[in-house]
Amino acid sequence: MKPMNRFATAATAAVFAATALLVPTAAQAAPILATTAASSNCVVTGGELGWGVKEGFRSYISGTIANGSWEVADGASYETPLFGWANPTGEIDAITGEGTVSFAGSIHFTGHDGVLNLQIANPTVVLNGDGTAKLLMDTKSNNAQGELVVDEQQAYLGKVEALGQLDPASGAVAFDQAPAVLTADGADAFGGFYASGDELDPVSLTLQLGPCEGTPAAPAQSADSNSETVTLTADEPANSVPWLPIAIGAVALVVIAVTAGMLIAGRKKGAAPAAPEDDVAPSDS
Ligand code: HEM
Repeated sequence: MKPMNRFATAATAAVFAATALLVPTAAQAAPILATTAASSNCVVTGGELGWGVKEGFRSYISGTIANGSWEVADGASYETPLFGWANPTGEIDAITGEGTVSFAGSIHFTGHDGVLNLQIANPTVVLNGDGTAKLLMDTKSNNAQGELVVDEQQAYLGKVEALGQLDPASGAVAFDQAPAVLTADGADAFGGFYASGDELDPVSLTLQLGPCEGTPAAPAQSADSNSETVTLTADEPANSVPWLPIAIGAVALVVIAVTAGMLIAGRKKGAAPAAPEDDVAPSDS
C-alpha cells in the first residue's frame, strides 16, 4: 500500500474509532433523563384544607326542623362558614401534579334528637393531575329511622372540579373555592335527601411541598440542565455498571492504538527506501 493510501485508511479508522468513543456518552445520557422524568414525588410539609360541606345542610341542621348542631374534634376546626383542617401528610408528583394528601379531624352533625347522626372525618384529597380531585372521608350516617346505614372508611364523597392551573414544581399547590359536587356515595351519607351531582360548598386547599425524590420537571427537561441536580430514586439501580458503553469504548481504544501503530510503521517504511534509491540510481551524466 502506498504511504498516502495507508494514511487515508488509518485516518478513516481513527475517525470511526473516535465516533465510537462518543457512543457511551449518548448511551448513558438517556437513562438519566428517563430517571428524572419518572420520579418526582414531593413530600407535603404543610398546608390547609377549607370546606363548608354544604351551606344548605348547615342551615337545615341549625334551623328549627332538625334542631341540631355540629361539633368538630381531633384536629378539625370551624369558623363560619368553613370547616378547616391543617397539618397534612402526603406526596405530590411535581411533574404530573398527581398526589394524595390527608388531614386528621372530624365533624359530627346531629339533629332530630339524635336520629340524624352524621360523622365525616379525616379528609383525603386525591389530586388526579387533570384539574380535578376526589374528596374522601371516613363516613358514618343514619337513615331517617335512626339506623346506622353508612359506615365506610375514606368514602368518595365529592368530586372537586376546575382546580385551575397547579404548579407543584414551584414547591406549592393551591386552589381557592374550587367547585365540588356530590358523588353517589356522598348522596347516601346525607340520608338520600340529596342526589349525586348536587352542588357542595367549594373547596380550598394550600399545600407546601418539601424535598422531592428525583428532579423537578423544569430542570430535568431543560437541554442545559445541570447534572448535579439529578438525584436517583431509591429503587433506581444507581450503582449498575454500564458494561455495553465500556466495551464499545475499549474496542475504540484498541482501534486507535492499532491505527496509530500502522501510521508510525508506515511512515518509517516509507522514509527508509528513499536514501538507497538515490544511491543505486547511477547518473548517466
Ligand atoms: C326523624 C328523622 C328526620 C326527619 C323528621 C327529617 C325531616 C326533614 C325535613 C322536613 C326536611 C325538609 C327540610 C326543608 O325542605 O327545608 C329534611 C331535609 C333534609 N334532611 Fe332530614 N329528616 C330526618 C332525618 C334525616 C337524616 C337521618 C338525615 C341524614 C343525614 C337527614 C338529612 C336531610 C337532608 C340532607 C336534608 C336536606 C337539607 C337541605 O334543605 O339542604 N334527615 N329533613
